Amino acid sequence: MVQSAQGRASGKIILMGEHSVVYSKPAIALPFAAVQVLTTVTETTGDLSVNCAFYDGLVHEMPKVYESLKHAIRFSLYRLGVSQNPAIHIEITSTIPAERGMGSSAAVAVSVARALFSFYDKELTAKELWDIAQSSERIAHGNPSGVDVTTISREQSVYFVKDEAIEVLNLDLPAYLVVADTGKIGHTLEAVQHVADWMEMENEGTADLYFSPQGHIEALGQLAKTSKKALLNQDIKTLGDCMNQAQTYLVDLGVSDKGLDRLVVAARQAGALGAKLTGGGRGGCMIALVESLTSAKKIAVKLKESGATQAWLQSLGASSDEKLLQGDFFKGDV
Ligand code: PMV
Repeated sequence: MVQSAQGRASGKIILMGEHSVVYSKPAIALPFAAVQVLTTVTETTGDLSVNCAFYDGLVHEMPKVYESLKHAIRFSLYRLGVSQNPAIHIEITSTIPAERGMGSSAAVAVSVARALFSFYDKELTAKELWDIAQSSERIAHGNPSGVDVTTISREQSVYFVKDEAIEVLNLDLPAYLVVADTGKIGHTLEAVQHVADWMEMENEGTADLYFSPQGHIEALGQLAKTSKKALLNQDIKTLGDCMNQAQTYLVDLGVSDKGLDRLVVAARQAGALGAKLTGGGRGGCMIALVESLTSAKKIAVKLKESGATQAWLQSLGASSDEKLLQGDFFKGDV
């Protein structure tokens, strides 16, 4: 045991395949280093306590609504084989906007597990980290596909299919993503349930004759496959087309909202090659694809004029230095 230890995790962006990934279709996701969570564990003389943006107090007194965080702490301690009430304090600071489709809950769980294992000087295997973060996500999101925890814990861009081997994508695209926050809390759980209800209605034969949610899920899966090829072939135009088509299907499925739609339209009008929501939707963030840094900055400004509360740039190029630099461009800027 050391006196103090830290664990970090970044956010994530789903480029393609949100919602359809729940139905075992492929998704493409990227770690998003512009937003991060940092957990610091220190020795104290009192009971196990935690401080974060939403709660400051004893872990055993945490309200039910923070159950996923409580679970990440308690499960980590259990796996570490230490008491459930050690004399430690856990401090969590985050720049990941909560409930915006950026993987905040998964990142918090990953950073908490990393900090606690480091504090007790024990190796945290990839499997252990997955078990802790994914079970915490089950509390936050019901039945998560695992794309968030995979991307955030591996810190790599991935082509992800539920319960299948992960394919790491080495992105090297001369393009940028503009990521913008509608400022409205997203409703992943509700949106996932809405799609599930549609699917059930179709299975029972009670769905709208002219709308097939299963067909939409299938199409979103195909678009993720085409996008992967486009990424590997550095075909930015096809990738943008796929993003635009995906947004149409996501709107039809009922997981977008007015704020997201407005920013998507604004990005396209300002010259983006493609734009769509990212993550669970019904609030939260959207992404736009652009070819140059100049147009990325221009579109970021346009998005803010159109109501985005924050905007970031993410390079899709190979250099990680460049990614961080661009990711920081609009950090925290409102
Ligand atoms: O809103 P987020 O960041 O939790 O992303 C959810 C992605 C979904 O595909 C909608 C759900 C899932 O479990 O993959």
